[in-house]
Amino acid sequence: MKRIIVIGASSGMGYKVASDFARMGWKVGVSARRTEPLAALQSQYPDNVQYTYIDVTASDAVKHFYDLIERLGGMDVMLLCAGTGWNNPELDPAKDMHTLQVNVMGFTRMVNAAYKYFKDTANVNRGQIAAITSIAGTKGIGISATYSASKAYQSRYLQAIDQLAHQQHVNVAVTEIRPGFVNTDLLDVSRHNYPMLMSVDYVAPRIERAILRRRRVTTIDSRWAVVTALWRLIPNPIWRRIALDNPAK
Ligand SMILES: NC(=O)c1ccc[n+]([C@@H]2O[C@H](COP(=O)([O-])OP(=O)(O)OC[C@H]3O[C@@H](n4cnc5c(N)ncnc54)[C@H](OP(=O)(O)O)[C@@H]3O)[C@@H](O)[C@H]2O)c1
Repeated sequence: MKRIIVIGASSGMGYKVASDFARMGWKVGVSARRTEPLAALQSQYPDNVQYTYIDVTASDAVKHFYDLIERLGGMDVMLLCAGTGWNNPELDPAKDMHTLQVNVMGFTRMVNAAYKYFKDTANVNRGQIAAITSIAGTKGIGISATYSASKAYQSRYLQAIDQLAHQQHVNVAVTEIRPGFVNTDLLDVSRHNYPMLMSVDYVAPRIERAILRRRRVTTIDSRWAVVTALWRLIPNPIWRRIALDNPAK
């Protein structure tokens, strides 16, 4: 039986993917700061779900993570979904600092911990570190500068960890998942329009497929893959004139 730990599993994509793997019969460890949804998942699948509180910004996060791995009897896949962010054209420093705490510091803490686990256990079966980044990391987006920069950081970090694993002969696959807009609590869908908005039910199977196929990088979905491929070709003097916004409803 395969074992997956989902960090940031109390809502949105993390919750859905964790429920799907539990339904498929995997052993699933779930964590977040809000534990009520995690307890609900555990009572739905009492034989194969374990949960714990983890705040990725806290120094005890790694201890809780390793405890959860132990309670699960080991880990084959870590899926990191914990993330935050806002449109912040006014550059509110509190929003920016919190985004960095979660998406950069917390992200690094948890990916490092998973890498060390796979390195130290010298697992015979190949381990996997998967994380949800974003299409926002593929270009600097003015209205969400810190969010898009934090996602670019995550993307580079995973690429580097993949190279490090190869160099150090650590038996781990690294999977980066880049969704476009998804209708979750992260977005303000009641007040803004988001182009090509996808539902969690549509996105979750695509995330699961990327994990099962051990893809290095996957963009969800193909429309967003085309958009990001095209906008990467746009030279800066033109890019800076494109006013990306989420129009109010
Ligand atoms: N929605 C989109 O359009 C979209 C697009 C591309 C990428 N993403 C990325 O997808 C990931 C999942 O987000 P989502 O859209 O599914 O939104 P969501 O429903 O808000 O999920 C975010 C998850 O992160 C957890 N989290 C936040 N801060 C945390 C912290 N300090 N410690 C531990 N867990 C924390 C939340 O749990 P608690 O609050 O209970 O801790 C929640 O489970 C994020 O990395 C996001 O940037 C989202």
